[in-house]
Amino acid sequence: MGVVVEQPVEGDAFGAMLLEQWEIGDVWEVVERDDGHVMVGWAAERYFAEPSRWNPLDTAAIDRCVGSVLDVGAGAGRACLELQRRELPALALDTSAKALQVCGRRGVRDSFLGTVFDLARQLPDRRFDSILLLGNNFGLLESPDAARRFLDALARLCTDGGRVIGRGLDPYSTEDPDHLRYHDRNRAVGRRAGQMRLRVRHRSEATPWFAYWMMSPHELEQALAGTTWDMDELHQDGGSYMAVLGKN
Ligand SMILES: C[S@@+](CC[C@H](N)C(=O)[O-])C[C@H]1O[C@@H](n2cnc3c(N)ncnc32)[C@H](O)[C@@H]1O
Repeated sequence: MGVVVEQPVEGDAFGAMLLEQWEIGDVWEVVERDDGHVMVGWAAERYFAEPSRWNPLDTAAIDRCVGSVLDVGAGAGRACLELQRRELPALALDTSAKALQVCGRRGVRDSFLGTVFDLARQLPDRRFDSILLLGNNFGLLESPDAARRFLDALARLCTDGGRVIGRGLDPYSTEDPDHLRYHDRNRAVGRRAGQMRLRVRHRSEATPWFAYWMMSPHELEQALAGTTWDMDELHQDGGSYMAVLGKN
């Protein structure tokens, strides 16, 4: 009888990666795409980086935060810690319990476990002046169909005159043949090139598969059409960008 090939156990692999980086160090982020492509691109240490080592677009994003801030997909809390240093009240929101555990151990004062939909439902009167989507978290718009629902939830959580400040990655900036093949595969079934289905792996764990939409700035503007959001600012560095959305 042959050896059984086991599948990874579904769980909080992203949070487990952060926790191991915090406790031991030297951990790499492993992301698997649904075409079998595996990306071992980044050291988990980048989620803990001090502002002096950030991409200037991240610093510019924090500079645009005013008043109370909701950090969506806060990770290890690097943005919340910097906001606290600047004496701006910040709430770290994440679907990863272990990520929020790391946030707490590093000194992040306020956190919420769940999605923006959960927050809007559980705390219907809570409003923020600024909402952050760092770490390419415009990807949380998921797809052209799902984007409207996510953007509406952000509008509910935001004060009048408030703003969303996010980072994105333009999928069309790549020449990697594996990525271009994935774009073609998406287009063939009527999806946008950068609509990805991913899961994070850590040791024998994997997160559930999730939708993440890498969109160009133009696609982001298209997604905003008919919503309460306008793109007020766009700053680009190669394929990477930071955009500020204002309530119209
Ligand atoms: C790429 S990391 C970015 C972390 C952090 N913003 C940074 O820039 O260092 C994405 C984070 O979003 C969280 N996340 C994933 N899906 C989410 C969702 N639907 N709602 C809230 N957070 C989510 C993940 O657990 C992870 O902490």
